Amino acid sequence: MELLVEKICCIGAGYVGGPTMAIIADKCPNILINVVDINEERIAAWNDSNLDKLPIYEPGLKEVIKRCRNRNLFFSNLVKENISNADMIFISVNTPTKTKGIGAGQASDLKWIEASARQIGKYGKGKTIVVEKSTLPVKTAQIIKSILLSSNKPQELKNEDDKSFYILSNPEFLAEGSAIDDLENPDRVLIGGENNDAISALKKIYLNWVSEDKILTTDLWSSELSKLIANAFLAQRVSSINSISALCESTNANINEVSRAIGMDSRIGKYFLNAGPGFGGSCFKKDILNLIYICNHYGINEVASYWEKVIEINNWQQNRIVKIILDKLFGNIAGKKIAIFGFAFKANTNDTRESPAISICKGLIEEGSILSIYDPKVQIDQIKKDLELYPFKENSSHNDGFWEFSNSTYEAAVNSDAIVILSEWNEFSEINYDLLINKMRKPSWIFDTRNTVNIDKAKKSGFKIWSLGNGNLN
Ligand code: UDX
Ligand code: ADP
Repeated sequence: MELLVEKICCIGAGYVGGPTMAIIADKCPNILINVVDINEERIAAWNDSNLDKLPIYEPGLKEVIKRCRNRNLFFSNLVKENISNADMIFISVNTPTKTKGIGAGQASDLKWIEASARQIGKYGKGKTIVVEKSTLPVKTAQIIKSILLSSNKPQELKNEDDKSFYILSNPEFLAEGSAIDDLENPDRVLIGGENNDAISALKKIYLNWVSEDKILTTDLWSSELSKLIANAFLAQRVSSINSISALCESTNANINEVSRAIGMDSRIGKYFLNAGPGFGGSCFKKDILNLIYICNHYGINEVASYWEKVIEINNWQQNRIVKIILDKLFGNIAGKKIAIFGFAFKANTNDTRESPAISICKGLIEEGSILSIYDPKVQIDQIKKDLELYPFKENSSHNDGFWEFSNSTYEAAVNSDAIVILSEWNEFSEINYDLLINKMRKPSWIFDTRNTVNIDKAKKSGFKIWSLGNGNLN
């Protein structure tokens, strides 16, 4: 029996739901898509006529939204209504790590998933395909299924058959900053499920722009687990190269050379070998913590410890950077101004979740430094949330140990002793070093954690340079 999909509802208008639905709307003009969210401010931003005010920054997103919004793509807070009308419902809500209770600090908090499933159970009508999009711990589909099966049949439906749900897992592999390209040209699309008609219905949507050989179908659990493991492997690669960056610094080797040399081995491959200040983002840490939780749950403690190390190295890398800055600035940064270039967890996004910049900035403020933070896309209010209790200049009566916000690299650099580059935004590699150094105190340092600086040029302008994993400089 063919399941027709004419109307889609996506619950959650975040970094996953927004861009994913925008691309489906763009590629499937005959499907009507309603993206719903309980956050009114976020929905208002998605509907803002000024496309520079979209709630997330993602290269190429504006153009897609311009084409589809109010054509077959709508954003609203009408959760119930749009659930009722949908043939297919994507769940793209947040699943952060639990902060309290059993599994705190490791397991994912599924309260938003459960709330969504209950709403679907209550308001869904007819035959509805429910698609998990959020990154979830394995076997969450089972939870969604149990909630949907236990939901009450609305009175207006005559028999049980009028209301049925099919659960699919369709993990999202997009990376922020390249989401549009990743969605348009995915390496693969993974669909996990039990019902062939539901799988075919989702597959048909992707076939509008993805070739069939890239669409994999599996059972539900393998699909959920694959997402977790893909992220764990990627994060492990980052921790591996970061661990070697420290060795390069101690042994006069250069991490870029090492990355290039090992990456040319086709078994290793050249991608994801950039050493940096540690991985951030909403997925890597959360997914590894989930993996650790699951392994411990099944008594596979050695495997859990193995993956714990990936996170340990990530934390260590961030602490190490704070120590190096302190050391190079004569062991004292109290009252010294340090310019921070980049606060997002990577370039080309305004997302700061788990950004290494957060812990590095906190570490520097704790040492008494005065930070002047600039990021091309991160807003001051977001930094205020991330640095929480750490004093902000305007409210601060302190003489040292606080932060302020800057609107440009040049503004941030004024009177500073050092520049610390934390995200690899393009504009940081196009800096005019002469102009910058003239605004700074001497000796003027650049600490480059992303290998974006043109070392020769910067040195010529008089900078002292520390560059991550570059043992020839340090
Ligand atoms: C990741 C996965 O790539 C994506 O498939 C999944 O859907 C969600 O999680 P994302 O977190 O958006 O995507 O970004 P990604 O490009 O993977 O980077 C994650 C972190 O690793 C960033 O902090 C980045 O700076 C860091 N990283 C990445 C490195 O330090 N070096 C690298 O070589 C690559
Ligand atoms: P992700 O990176 O996974 O997309 P985000 O936090 O950016 O995560 O987005 C998740 C969105 O889901 C948020 O905007 C949040 O308001 C929304 N959300 C959470 N629970 C519900 C719910 N029950 N109904 C509608 N929207 C929800």
